[in-house]
Amino acid sequence: MYMIPLDQWKERLDAVVASDGEVIRRVIVIRETASTQDAARRLGAQPGDVVVAWRQTAGRGRLGRRWADTREDGVALSIVLPCGPPERLALAFAVGVAGAVERLLDRPVGIKWPNDIVVERRKLAGILIEQSGALAVAGIGLNVSQTTWPKELAEVAVSLAQLGAPDDRLDAIVAVLESVSTALRQPDDVLVEAFTERDALSGAEATLRNGRETVHGTVLRIDPLEGLWVRTDSGEVRLPAATTTILAQSSR
Ligand code: BTN
Repeated sequence: MYMIPLDQWKERLDAVVASDGEVIRRVIVIRETASTQDAARRLGAQPGDVVVAWRQTAGRGRLGRRWADTREDGVALSIVLPCGPPERLALAFAVGVAGAVERLLDRPVGIKWPNDIVVERRKLAGILIEQSGALAVAGIGLNVSQTTWPKELAEVAVSLAQLGAPDDRLDAIVAVLESVSTALRQPDDVLVEAFTERDALSGAEATLRNGRETVHGTVLRIDPLEGLWVRTDSGEVRLPAATTTILAQSSR
């Protein structure tokens, strides 16, 4: 029987639901949407629901940034969960997506705090966690088969295909769902250790903001559930993980 690819996705992802049974309860596959984050809200998705788009045209990233049109090259999906401590969710998703990508690439990757997945400083995947009311909606964008980029991304983005990995989007989605589901069930200490092994920010010079305060210095150490220790010209400071953002990062 001939099936359009969307049906194939639905069938394979339903099998992930059947074998997971704990974190992932339903997968909704949609042909095209501006943002799977908004689609999840619009569809009234509940904890355990996943919204996957064949194509996402106007995704958003953290800190008001945009996520480029996936076309038929990238993965865009959103996982709905009960709301929870933002640092723990960010950590579990970072470790989960990193684990999936490592499985696909067969090599280690870095996590640039809080949750960018990077290879040689280029971004392979990004995570956006939005919480309101009782729900958290965690969106994952993963670059799979792009071989060319818009000018502004050419130096900073990379795809699985460019790193020599198989570029099957459905395999990538399955790997992400399985690995994130595992990570969400892991205790804090296991997640923190997995983060630390992949920490791609410590050692770098960075400009960070915590509330109204801007801090520039060398990131000495990160505990993703606690904070970042930064050496500045006027001494060492600890910035809380929950309220700190990176404005800029230079060498490492
Ligand atoms: C970032 O790196 O700043 C986060 C990027 C998150 C992009 C994903 S793609 C799926 C989901 N839908 C969105 O609109 N954004 C997230």
